Amino acid sequence: MAILKIARMGHPVLLQKAAPVPDPTAPEIRRLIADMMETMMDAPGVGLAAPQIHVPLRLFVYRVPEARGGDDAEDAPLAPSVLINPEIEPLGDDIRLRWEGCLSIPGLRGAVPRPWRIRYRGLDGEGAPIERVAAGFHAGVVQHETDHLDGILYPMRMTDFRLFGFEPELSRAAERAA
Ligand code: NI
Repeated sequence: MAILKIARMGHPVLLQKAAPVPDPTAPEIRRLIADMMETMMDAPGVGLAAPQIHVPLRLFVYRVPEARGGDDAEDAPLAPSVLINPEIEPLGDDIRLRWEGCLSIPGLRGAVPRPWRIRYRGLDGEGAPIERVAAGFHAGVVQHETDHLDGILYPMRMTDFRLFGFEPELSRAAERAA
């Protein structure tokens, strides 16, 4: 296992459309997934897409930590997982602003409008199909990571750049407002 170097915004690999993974159980894909898991947990982060470690393939690792999961079964905590060749379908027309960060844009956070509830499909690390309905944090992570596979970074989805800033400043502002 190895901790991989994470590309930062400005690197062209983050703007590419990634290619489907032909064989999810190939040994090099298993190694890649293990290294991506280790890199995500080391960062630490809640998601890491292959293009972020300079591999333009359609897969990502993600998790919903205990502290971020809700009471809603569709937004419950999720152990570190992999999703290969994902597809997303928004459910309903509830769009909400959620704060996001990105390991490729360190130190910053921004509020991004996203469908609150989605259905997603893909393959797991054994090549078996996954189909889930997700809401809230879980749905946000899956949308953010799938965007990476299409060369989209979260600032490209933002509609109000007043809700964009450095983490410590945003925390201080939130404390002052509380
Ligand atoms: Ni990201």
